[in-house]
Amino acid sequence: MTAFRGACQKPRMPSFVKACSADEIPPGAGKTVTVNGKEYAIFNVEGTFRAIDNECPHRGGPLGEGELEGCLVTCPWHAWEFDLTSGESTTDDLTVTCYDVKVEDGTVLVIV
Ligand code: FES
Repeated sequence: MTAFRGACQKPRMPSFVKACSADEIPPGAGKTVTVNGKEYAIFNVEGTFRAIDNECPHRGGPLGEGELEGCLVTCPWHAWEFDLTSGESTTDDLTVTCYDVKVEDGTVLVIV
């Protein structure tokens, strides 16, 4: 016999959700932001905002605290680099997920 728990759930459509104020992340910097219980690493690459998973796929380092150089962020724990445009590591085959970001009225929005 099949057990039913609660109402049927429709698949949730992705939507943009407020992450932080654009002023909080100056050009060349990054920040870890929690949105709906998930941590994102958001960076300001010369005025273009980019978002990836905050958790480094190597050993879980906080990528939002990494050093940014161009479109590359360096994990603060073991110095693996990740390209913010592709999510690919320049160090290994591991990748991080990239998320769409937009800025509206000075607010950074990330897709969830
Ligand atoms: S945890 Fe990021 S490089 Fe090791």
